[in-house]
Amino acid sequence: MRLKDKIAIVTGGASGFGLGITQCYIDEGAKVLIADIDGAKAESEAARLGPTAAAHEVDVTDSAAVRAMIEAAKNIFGGLDIMVANAGLGQRPCPLDETPDEEYDRQFNVNVKGMHFCCKHAVELFKAQGHGNIIVTASGIALMPRPNLVVYGATKGAVLVYAKGLAMELAPLGIRVNALCPAAGDTPMLQEFMGGDETVDKKESFRTSMPMGRFITAEDMGHAAVYLASEREAGAITGTALAVDGGRTI
Ligand SMILES: NC(=O)c1ccc[n+]([C@@H]2O[C@H](COP(=O)([O-])OP(=O)(O)OC[C@H]3O[C@@H](n4cnc5c(N)ncnc54)[C@H](O)[C@@H]3O)[C@@H](O)[C@H]2O)c1
Repeated sequence: MRLKDKIAIVTGGASGFGLGITQCYIDEGAKVLIADIDGAKAESEAARLGPTAAAHEVDVTDSAAVRAMIEAAKNIFGGLDIMVANAGLGQRPCPLDETPDEEYDRQFNVNVKGMHFCCKHAVELFKAQGHGNIIVTASGIALMPRPNLVVYGATKGAVLVYAKGLAMELAPLGIRVNALCPAAGDTPMLQEFMGGDETVDKKESFRTSMPMGRFITAEDMGHAAVYLASEREAGAITGTALAVDGGRTI
């Protein structure tokens, strides 16, 4: 019960890593608003998880909608202690000169602007109430850039530098900001990184590129996010890029 009675929002909480974080937070005593553009999936996962979970449909690229999401957490659970800005889009590998122009806006809108609105509106509340904790999902690619994923990598580099800058800005207030940097996770997004058509061979080559020989699981991310949210255990940790990557970015 390391997060007993804490209230969290997890964006992108209806799938993959976000769902793993949600599950681990609930197991540790938190109440979680599963905030996702896929409202139906958020609803079904919240129903499965029980009364300490609730669902909220949101598009994180919409500033007013993100503000309303925070109001929803306050109305449903009575406040907000932890913002996990995790929602993101993957990219199909593509040489830069062949990358469609619209891919740039698609990626930056969700991965950077969406994360920004979540942090900005949470900070407004956290400053007013005098406490709060922010976790963003960056990526191992922010630590070790990869070819053919230049635009996606740039969004995650931006997420990481954003988190570090915000951590410095908020450190005097005791509000911590940290970034999770996962490598290949066996989530629905992996399909995108495999070019949209998952094959046994492609999946195996992803797996064998991981030094520990396995994918990062939703639970791996959940446990790391519990640690960063725990004041007792991570109370002195801010502005860090926590690689959850089985050694991929060494
Ligand atoms: N899976 C990987 O290999 C991997 C590796 C590194 C980083 N990441 C990052 O981890 C995070 C979670 O990815 P995942 O693998 O769990 O993917 P996923 O596709 O399983 O989950 C992403 C979730 O975000 C939601 N979402 C997308 N756009 C949204 C929007 N505009 N507003 C609200 N919700 C939105 C989706 O509906 C989905 O539920 C992302 O930020 C991703 O970039 C993933």
